[in-house]
Amino acid sequence: MSVISTDLCAPLAVLGHDVQVPLVSGEKVTYAALDYAASSPALQRVWDDVAAYAPYYGSVHRGAGYLSQLSTDLFEQSRRTVEEFLDLREDDQVVFTRATTDSLNLLASALPPGTRVLVFETEHHASLLPWRRTGLTVDFLRAPRSHAEAVAALEEALAGAPEGPKLFCVTGASNVTGELWPVAELTEAAHRHGARVVLDAAQLAPHHRVSVRELGVDWVAFSGHKLYAPFGAGVLAGRSDWLDAAEPYLAGGGATRTVAREADGSVAVEWNHGPARHEAGSPNVIGAYALASACRALSEAGFDALEAREQQLIARLKAGLADIPEVKELSLFGADSARVGVLSFVVQGWNSSHFSAALSAEYGIGVRDGLFCAHPLVRTLLGGEEATPSECGAPEPSLPGERSLNAIRVSFGAGTPDEHLERFLRAVRELVTDGAAWTYRNEGGRCVADTAVSGARPA
Ligand SMILES: Cc1ncc(COP(=O)(O)O)c(C=O)c1O
Repeated sequence: MSVISTDLCAPLAVLGHDVQVPLVSGEKVTYAALDYAASSPALQRVWDDVAAYAPYYGSVHRGAGYLSQLSTDLFEQSRRTVEEFLDLREDDQVVFTRATTDSLNLLASALPPGTRVLVFETEHHASLLPWRRTGLTVDFLRAPRSHAEAVAALEEALAGAPEGPKLFCVTGASNVTGELWPVAELTEAAHRHGARVVLDAAQLAPHHRVSVRELGVDWVAFSGHKLYAPFGAGVLAGRSDWLDAAEPYLAGGGATRTVAREADGSVAVEWNHGPARHEAGSPNVIGAYALASACRALSEAGFDALEAREQQLIARLKAGLADIPEVKELSLFGADSARVGVLSFVVQGWNSSHFSAALSAEYGIGVRDGLFCAHPLVRTLLGGEEATPSECGAPEPSLPGERSLNAIRVSFGAGTPDEHLERFLRAVRELVTDGAAWTYRNEGGRCVADTAVSGARPA
């Protein structure tokens, strides 16, 4: 029986909510998607909007035909929707990108030469790595263990930094622990020391209202595919000056105002200002439209209602896991710190890859195991292990029984029904108490059910 209150808003309708997947036993169950932090399912509303638009799809910008004009309007209206969604300031701009990684690399390419970038080593690799390029200096700040420590560490680093342009990059919500970062306080501190701030909202925007005006950040980046709109678009939004002064991120059509042949045989280019400068090539109109549709759907559902429901799911999850002593939750700021619906843990005596494989094969539950593209953070949380480097998210030793050098992450959001979390908690309890019903083997670095060998767990 579910103990989650039903007084709150219902989950939003998402695609895949009724997909049946096979268990290793041969039974079929409804898939429990608990890997929203990687990619969330598409909202039904987004899918319907895209389907309704698809017959009218046409080339964007410059096309003379009716559908080109309609598509151009929709593309630009999508930009306005994102501006509203993020509560941007008057002079801010929205650049459509491929996703957060692309947005942050775009910003890195647009920083004035000599910019010093400050970033906590706990960031997702997409926020940690784009700044390692010629002409920039990066200060990696050590993992703070509280909000106050984070603000103090930033203050100290900035106070000792030489004159010149500075950027601080921070995530709104951790993709590993789900914990919220004190973005407004950090931004205030950064601005006091003359540094600008970019917010990585990849994990925050799907769960929380993000007001650029209220947080005071200079730029924000997020991804459509984590915001229920998996059509290949993302956003970089914020201040125009550095973006307009920079070389275009991609050189090509759309980024140019004029291109002329010079007498000496060379080609002179006048680049556009505004978003077009960094959107060379044919724009992803369906991606932008889908992303805007998701922004509208979430705003209409209301973040207050969505958050209230999510917080109740989080409370249920945490209480359920707290009853299982073998489970150790990973946290940077303490178990009670505010978070979104993302939680990572290890299970004593279990390899995380083995545990995740059993959740999938025996219960139809999709979670993630690994280092979640935040290797320094996860290793800090696991006790500072320096293990063999692995691909993003890939498991390390994956044989059952081997000690875990990585973690398991469960993540959810606006489309998650109560049953998925209840099934997850039951599965964790059963696996910890009774062990896996099946045998598993290592296949190419992943733990998979060995269908040739095993039978069911004895009753
Ligand atoms: C906090 C955070 N930042 C950035 C990214 C990168 O997003 P994308 O893969 O959509 O570019 C992710 C993806 O997991 C993330 O969780």
